[in-house]
Amino acid sequence: MNKIIISASILSADFGKLADQLAACEQSGVDWIHIDVMDGAFVPNITMGPFIVETCKRLTSLPLDVHLMINHPEKHIAAFANAGANVLSVHIENNPNVYRTLESIRELGCKAGIVLNPGTPASAIETVIPAVDLVLAMTVNPGFSGQRYIPEVLPKIQSVREMIEASHPDTLLEVDGGITAQTLPETYTAGARVFVAATAVFKHPQGIAAGIQDLRQSVA
Ligand code: DX5
Ligand code: ZN
Repeated sequence: MNKIIISASILSADFGKLADQLAACEQSGVDWIHIDVMDGAFVPNITMGPFIVETCKRLTSLPLDVHLMINHPEKHIAAFANAGANVLSVHIENNPNVYRTLESIRELGCKAGIVLNPGTPASAIETVIPAVDLVLAMTVNPGFSGQRYIPEVLPKIQSVREMIEASHPDTLLEVDGGITAQTLPETYTAGARVFVAATAVFKHPQGIAAGIQDLRQSVA
């Protein structure tokens, strides 16, 4: 069986039943919980802050994979680290001093991630690879769950995989956006090993366990 990490995005969870849904994730073999932080400026939507991260920390022992889609993330990383984030990822597009930010994330005891939007070339992160534990390639424009996957990103995922293999093979490669049992296999072939999914997990007609099973079986 192929070893993959599934990071379930609570953006599509039912927040009225968050404790139950996180417990169902644990029981279904989810590896990480993905928390999408949006500020209504870098992306059009407004979602969660450190308070939700802290709530998830109390409700689950799974690692918390926090995706910051906010301007000036450097102002907020300590709050997210203190709230219990395990992975903290920031975008390359709005971070002129990204090295400093990534260094601070590691100093706070978190794994540091760098994120690329679909329109951002792989070369934008070439010099940043030594400073990160994870690269996240968006397969939709960030802002909402339930969007259509953009297959044109596949060659870039392959380029990032080649960059990683050439210098820092332990760096994780994650994809996020429109990941389903149908789209996951081609991103796996391109080199991704961590898969974020919101709709495919929390909106699966047969429930969370069936959603996870479908995702895993797609590359079994
Ligand atoms: C999009 C977020 C994603 C989103 C994925 O801006 O970063 O994590 O929750 O949702 P699905 O899996 O429904 O595309
Ligand atoms: Zn995300």
